[in-house]
Amino acid sequence: MATADIGLIGLAVMGSNLALNIAEKGYTVAVHNRSPGRIDEFVSEAKAQGLDGNTIPKYDLADFVQSVKAPRSIIIMVKAGKPVDDMIEQLLPHLEPGDAIIECGNSLYTDTQRRFDYLKPKNIGYLGVGVSGGEEEGARHGPSIMVGGSKEQWHNAEAVLTAIAAQFNGESCCAYLGEGGAGHFVKMIHNGIEYGDMQMIAEVYGVMRDGLGMTASECGDVFKKWNEGPLNSYLIEITGHVLHAVDADTKKPLVDLILDKAGQKGTGVWSAIVAQQMGVPATAIEGAVAARSISSRKAERVAAEGIYGRPNRVRSDVTLDDLEKALLAGKIVSYAQGFAVIAKASEEFGWSLPLATIAKIWRAGCIIRSRFLDQMASAYSKGDASNLLIVPDFVAIMKDAHPSLRKVVAGAAMGEFPMVCLSAALSYFDSYRQAQGTANLIQGQRDFFGAHGFEIEGRGGDLHGTWPSTLQNKAAAPVVEE
Ligand code: 6PG
Repeated sequence: MATADIGLIGLAVMGSNLALNIAEKGYTVAVHNRSPGRIDEFVSEAKAQGLDGNTIPKYDLADFVQSVKAPRSIIIMVKAGKPVDDMIEQLLPHLEPGDAIIECGNSLYTDTQRRFDYLKPKNIGYLGVGVSGGEEEGARHGPSIMVGGSKEQWHNAEAVLTAIAAQFNGESCCAYLGEGGAGHFVKMIHNGIEYGDMQMIAEVYGVMRDGLGMTASECGDVFKKWNEGPLNSYLIEITGHVLHAVDADTKKPLVDLILDKAGQKGTGVWSAIVAQQMGVPATAIEGAVAARSISSRKAERVAAEGIYGRPNRVRSDVTLDDLEKALLAGKIVSYAQGFAVIAKASEEFGWSLPLATIAKIWRAGCIIRSRFLDQMASAYSKGDASNLLIVPDFVAIMKDAHPSLRKVVAGAAMGEFPMVCLSAALSYFDSYRQAQGTANLIQGQRDFFGAHGFEIEGRGGDLHGTWPSTLQNKAAAPVVEE
């Protein structure tokens, strides 16, 4: 008999925790996993947490599907990529029109869109859902949930997904954002922004460690203090904890022992590529992705240091206040860029992505949750802004903070500190806020070698110079032709 409110396939850490979260909120969840041993482990875990009454373990896939009330909502929590397509194919013969598959991994939004389009004519709903907050804590106690896909079927799962999400001032951090791949697109940009936040924090930590000569635990104290101010956020908070952690064997700060090579699974790269493809500058995300790639080339870096010598890290004259403000300014630029990418995608894919709602559901549960997002949510609620950098509340912060970002980046250049992300944010800001740039020269060059044309105010938009045909004649003055 069908008694489960929802089904969930894939009981690795994240899947199990989501299932336990659902059960705890009073919904009955049927669970299934390819290897039966994992189902047994889940059953013991659910029992240990007193949640077995709301869970229905099913070892057979057909049996599992039958145990979920129609129209069915079935969460799949398997590895992104081919395993998702395989799972869809396995499930299809057991589903009925009106049922929905809810995929909660970090899938590429174009894959999600393809799956949505594939299932639509079969009358099977497809929801591509971004879940942020970590597979342990977030999934178990309240993630941020970014839903995209079949709107009709979203309503069947809405109560459960809304209940398991994090809450901010009584509002659920789960929302339906748009059709097709919209949910996974927004999750991808969330991760891109996460990369930027993390990289900017790491760059500031570098100045504290190597420029101000601070120990890991002294740096940790600063992050702890910053977490009480405008930078208040999950990532600043955990940075404090990471910096205070001590290795049990050596009693040294753990962070000093961890190799300086950062991994990445792909969402940051995807964000940077999409931003470039859509013609939206997202230099903070690009910088953060590049910095991770450079970090992973440890052997090359060691060899290069052998050639150029150790960086001459003179004691920096930047203050901790400068660093705090520089982070804040960099963060505003990075979020302005991330939201601009989302706004452009909304236009390009016809999704009507609600920027204020996105800022709202990121206020709790997700990795980039912060006090700042509450300010962003209210700014976006007041009206649609094309760029956060021109929203009055943020203009005021930027006016106060960009001189510090400038001082920090300038100091970093002279002190031989890499600042791929913060300097990218500053250059973007300086490019964005200037009325007169230097692309006039680019246009001249383009017209010189490729007759691409240029515009002169009051004289038209497709003008050409009469450039010398050979460089021997380069002294000849060009004449503008229409
Ligand atoms: C989250 C995280 C989560 C994960 C990413 C990032 O929102 O809960 O972003 O999705 O940590 O996979 O991983 P990488 O840093 O390995 O790309």
